Amino acid sequence: MTTIDGPTEIPRTYYRDGRVLDEELHRVFGANWIFVGHESEVPAPGDYVTRRLGGDPVILARAEEGVQVMLNSCTHRGTQVCKASYGNTTTFRCGYHGWVFGNDGTLRGVPGRRALYGPDFDLAGRGLRRARVQTLHGFVFATWRDDGPSLEDYLGDFRWYLDALFDFFPGGMEVHAGVHRVDVRGNWKIHAENFSGDGYHLRVAHRTMFELGVMGTQAGAVEGFAVNEPHGHALRSQYLIDAQVPDSVFGYEEDLLEAALKRADPQHRKFRERATVIHGLVFPNLLFITTAPVSYGDDAQGQTAFTQIRALTPIDQHTHEVAYWNLVPRDASDTWKSRSYLFATRQHGASSFFEADDLENFRRIDAALGTVAGAQAPYTYELGAGVSTRYTPPWQGPGRLVPQDFTEANQRNFVSRYLDLMEGTR
Ligand code: FES
Ligand code: FE
Repeated sequence: MTTIDGPTEIPRTYYRDGRVLDEELHRVFGANWIFVGHESEVPAPGDYVTRRLGGDPVILARAEEGVQVMLNSCTHRGTQVCKASYGNTTTFRCGYHGWVFGNDGTLRGVPGRRALYGPDFDLAGRGLRRARVQTLHGFVFATWRDDGPSLEDYLGDFRWYLDALFDFFPGGMEVHAGVHRVDVRGNWKIHAENFSGDGYHLRVAHRTMFELGVMGTQAGAVEGFAVNEPHGHALRSQYLIDAQVPDSVFGYEEDLLEAALKRADPQHRKFRERATVIHGLVFPNLLFITTAPVSYGDDAQGQTAFTQIRALTPIDQHTHEVAYWNLVPRDASDTWKSRSYLFATRQHGASSFFEADDLENFRRIDAALGTVAGAQAPYTYELGAGVSTRYTPPWQGPGRLVPQDFTEANQRNFVSRYLDLMEGTR
């Protein structure tokens, strides 16, 4: 069945077949805007970090003319020119035969150039391949496609939500305490779909955490909804129904919040007020979650708001790398930043209780993919299709709004976009 959001099932082969992954690396990761890192990770000239853009190793560097993303592969015989995870340099020297590249990718020197290559050997045109780069609110996106849409067009209506979340504080946001990277079992799409809006699993997969009171006590009854956009981007958010308890649940330092609210778009403000959690996906692999301190249980001491982003990179069809970053308002106090980081790490970090529950389920999905009967069964996404609900969100914004918390509308949207790309229909 196909709904307005997309199909209600997809064959499991898409999660277990190495040939599918090869196609994905070309059609999904190789042809779209992919998040590579945050500008605040490379604040000074010469700063760099190494990442992967789908299947390709890349260097994100701050060169003289700004942030660059380059293929981390020597143009001589392909060796990685940078082995470190991060650092500061003006040049990268290949460890095989010694070609030297500037941090903008240009080839600067070749050992024995004149004597060994002759007078006609030109350095120009032999630099590291540079990706097309565009940034939004400090997020650095890159693509190998020179003829594709702009980042603005790629984000479409979803830009409204990214503005509300990441362009809220006058001084912007920055990465606090670097990046955590772990390899986990399970196809990358399982994780992407989960974050795009799986409210259904919370009380089952994370039940113990709620029962133990680790989450504290919810400040009131909540309702939720999903939003999706045809490029595959989506989010889910949960709201306190009673506007009075409390008035707002932002959870930032007062001065900072006041300054943010003064400049905020009124609808953006409504979107964020009373939201206990907002999480989602920028297609295909950038995830985000922001939560507010609305729980008042015994263990809720020191809670703050926090914002975490994640990037998923496939390693093979059964495994992916997750990179976690904590974003904080640049103008927050150091004490607040540390507390937010602590809380984010405890609740949603690589070794957190939430993560343990989710990763165990991702692992079990992978373990049950099977070869014959298992592989022939589909994954289904029928939840909420054709069900009408009563919840009206307290804000107005663009995109396709699904006014219910328990729905697989965003997963259907993900599958729709994914299949379009894989089948070459757009
Ligand atoms: Fe880099 Fe030869 S492979 S210099
Ligand atoms: Fe979860």
